[in-house]
Parts: sequence; structure tokens; C-alpha cells
Amino acid sequence: MEEPPEHRQFLGRSPRYDLIILGASGFTGKYVVREALKFLSLNAPSSPLESIALAGRNTTRLADALRWAAHPDPPPDIALLAADVGDLASLRRMCAQTRLVLNCVGPFRLHGEPVVAACVDSGCDYLDICGEPEFMERMEAKYHESAVETGSLVISACGFDSIPAELGLMFNSRQWTEPAVVNWIEAYLSLESERRIVGNFGTYQSAVLGVANVEKLQELRRSRPRRARPVIPGPASPKGSIIEHQNKIGLWAVKLPSADSVVVRRTLSILTENPDGLPGSNEDAEHIEKRKAFWSTVKPAHFGVKMGLRSLLGIFSLIIVGVFIGVLGRTAFGRWLLLQFPSVFSFGRFRKKGPTEEEVESASFKMWFVGHGYSSRDVASQSNVKPDMQIITRVTGPEIGYVTTPIILLQCALILLSNRENLPKGGSYPPGIVFGPTDLQERLEKNGISFDVISKSALHA
Ligand SMILES: NC(=O)c1ccc[n+]([C@@H]2O[C@H](COP(=O)([O-])OP(=O)(O)OC[C@H]3O[C@@H](n4cnc5c(N)ncnc54)[C@H](OP(=O)(O)O)[C@@H]3O)[C@@H](O)[C@H]2O)c1
Repeated sequence: MEEPPEHRQFLGRSPRYDLIILGASGFTGKYVVREALKFLSLNAPSSPLESIALAGRNTTRLADALRWAAHPDPPPDIALLAADVGDLASLRRMCAQTRLVLNCVGPFRLHGEPVVAACVDSGCDYLDICGEPEFMERMEAKYHESAVETGSLVISACGFDSIPAELGLMFNSRQWTEPAVVNWIEAYLSLESERRIVGNFGTYQSAVLGVANVEKLQELRRSRPRRARPVIPGPASPKGSIIEHQNKIGLWAVKLPSADSVVVRRTLSILTENPDGLPGSNEDAEHIEKRKAFWSTVKPAHFGVKMGLRSLLGIFSLIIVGVFIGVLGRTAFGRWLLLQFPSVFSFGRFRKKGPTEEEVESASFKMWFVGHGYSSRDVASQSNVKPDMQIITRVTGPEIGYVTTPIILLQCALILLSNRENLPKGGSYPPGIVFGPTDLQERLEKNGISFDVISKSALHA
């Protein structure tokens, strides 16, 4: 049923808050609050972020999170709003008060849809840190058209999943200058720490439920029109072996079934359908030229992601964890076991309590992008010819889940708040196609996430 107009925020009323962090009391949510406080205009006068509120189902837990995030300073005077994803009226009230919701309530498959629906309905923007392809694609299928109509921008995967992959692929592909052409880019993720590398239960639970619902994703894709496929010079990407040793970067590697390659493929499909990218809601001529110029330098490539480790033994242990989740995740009893004993079945990689602050601080990541291609289109078009060029680039940054993810989410939010007219009016999109032509990469570099060219070399057959 059509909602009464007072729920629709953009009918003349200006919202009270620039952004609301929903799920601020969660393990990741409280780190997002800490990052947001740095950019509140109270602390950073040139920031567009003047007012924020925290939302969740328990305001005492929100107050605790705010105190934790502000420490050692006293907590600032920030509104704490009661909002439960099971209570649609509370979500509508929340959306009516803000320009933007940052959703940190996961697993998104269980809790995300009512939030997207409420944002789309009210016309406010929505960003999340989801890494669940089925959720993202289902939201696009169900809400894209209405989001275009109401002017709500819905962008999932604005965390470590999947912005380093999206921007990293673009960064590598832009190093291939005429006449060279890129064919395939493989990303190798390496997590490093002097202590243990541990993830919180929320991320583990999202992964387990992802496996349990893999058929739903395939069903959804079968029911949707086929997306455009980019034209990539040269052959289809090689299948390769299950375990690989990457000599150039000194890592053993195995395929990582993360959301990254799916998200990147969605961006490349949209780019194929819109070679100049997506028009902004109110762009000036200069920005239109800038956007077109940016996309003309991005070349599509086959893309995959692998987990890289120094030891072969580590790769075997990772494969065993994958088998546990892949096999047990398919039955209710198996899922119960996995979720009861996360530490056992992940060999200590996930804990119900999450990592300590020291563990978070000591961790970092390196994501290597090894691009393979040809010195010219003519070479690429010959049959059975192997790539004769390689370009290696790298994205590096701090701990992925609770430092890098909040940094990325906040920078995406600040772009939305300060450059809304250059972004699409509304719709549900992967992050790369929206943020690619913005200054997101420069912003991330200023905040400790770097993009480097490592080598450009000729390959000899
Ligand atoms: N993209 C990335 O790289 C990345 C990085 C980190 C995390 N994540 C994702 O972020 C999600 C959260 O992870 P986490 O470890 O932070 O989980 P968590 O600690 O369990 O936090 C979940 C949050 O959701 C809230 N919540 C649960 N049910 C709710 C409801 N009915 N209404 C309102 N709020 C509700 C919880 O509120 P209470 O405090 O009231 O329980 C809590 O604030 C996961 O899906 C994870 O995969 C992604």
C-alpha cells in the first residue's frame, strides 16, 4: 500500500541528521562510530558531516558503544534512536530523520531487507558493509526501480568487501596504456599480523549462511535477464590449478570464495551497458567530461581473487575450513555445529568475542593485483598466444574488518554528503560504478590505504 506523504523525507523537509549509523552497538558498528567521530564537523571543521545519530534496538548498548568510541574523550552529545529491523515503523521514523543510513546490522540476509525497503521508501540514501552476494543481487532485483523513482541510492559492499577489489582492479587496468591491453587480473589477498588474525562471529555467521543459501543465489540469477558481458581482448581466463605458488610475490594461493569477484563483475556489466558510467543527478558540464574521461581509461578484464599465504600448510588448513563450512553449512544440524563452535571449525580464525583491540591494531593487509595482458590488440587476437606483459599493483592497509572497513564506509558517506549532485539520482548499484570516478581512492590514501604500482614487465614465452 502507498505510504502517506509525511513518510517521504524529500518532500520539502530537510532531515535532522546527515547520517545515522544503524547497528552502532555491534562489533563493527562501534568501530564505525569511532571513525565517524573523527569526521564530525565538531572535530573536523571543514567536514560536511555536521550531525549524526546512532540507532539500534537497545539504547543502553548504543550509549556503551558511543562511550567506547569516544574514549578517552567524554562521549559527545549524539542522539541515540531506538530502531529494530523487525519493527517497520521504527525504521520509517529513522529514515525520515536522515539523508543517509549506514547499515552495520548483519547478517544482511536475515536483517537487511527491511532497512533497504524503508530507505527506498523514504528516499534517503543507504550504504552498508555487506559481503553477501545473494543479498546484494536480491536487493537490486527488488528495489532498483523504486529506488530510481524515489531518489534513494542503495549501495552495498562499501567495506573491505568489496571496495579494495573494485578500486584495485580499476587501478591495475588503468596502468595498461595503448597499445597494451589487459586480459586477466588475479588478486592475491595476504593478511598479516604479529598476533593472531581473528574475525568476529558476525562475519563468520554471514559466511555460513551464505553457503547455506547458495542455491537461492543461483535461482535468483536464473530468474533475471542476463547482464551485458564486457568485451575483453584475448582468450577466456585460464582455469589454473587449485593451489598455486605465485613466484613474483612469494605466496601460496587458493581461490577465495568472497563477494569481490561477483561485485566487480556487476560493475563491469553496468559499465558495458553505460560506457560513460552513470550520469549524476545534477552534474555540470565539467564533471560530465571528467566522468567520461575516467571511464575511458578503465579496461575490463577477467577477474578472480585468491587467498595468499606464505606456508603451504596454511593453505591446507584454509581448504579444510572451507570444506567444513561448505559441507556442514548445507544442513541445519551442520550449521548449528558451525555456529556453536566457530573457533573449532575455523581453526581459531573466528571467535564469538571477536578480536581484542591489540589484535586489531597489529593486523594489516596486502592485496596484490597481478594483471596479465598483451603488448597490442593484434597480439591478443592471435590464437593460442600467451600473455606477453604483466603489471603488478598492490593495495595495502590496516586490519580489514574493523579498521579498513570503517575507513572506507565513512569516506563513501562523506562523498555522498558532499558530492551528491555528481552521483546517480537513485538506484541499487555495486560501489565501483558509483564511486569509481570520484576522489575515493585519494581519500583512502589520505587515510592509510595505499595504491602502488609494483612492476611492469614483459613476459617471455
Ligand atoms: N564488508 C566487510 O568487510 C565487513 C567487515 C566487518 C563486518 N562485516 C559485516 O557486518 C555485519 C555485522 O558484523 P558484526 O561482527 O559487527 O556483528 P555483531 O557484532 O553481531 O553486530 C550486529 C549488530 O546488529 C544489531 N542487530 C541485530 N539484530 C537487530 C535487530 N533486530 N534490529 C536492530 N539491530 C539489530 C546488533 O544489535 P544489538 O547490539 O542490540 O545486539 C548489533 O549492533 C556482518 O554481516 C559482517 O559480515 C563486513
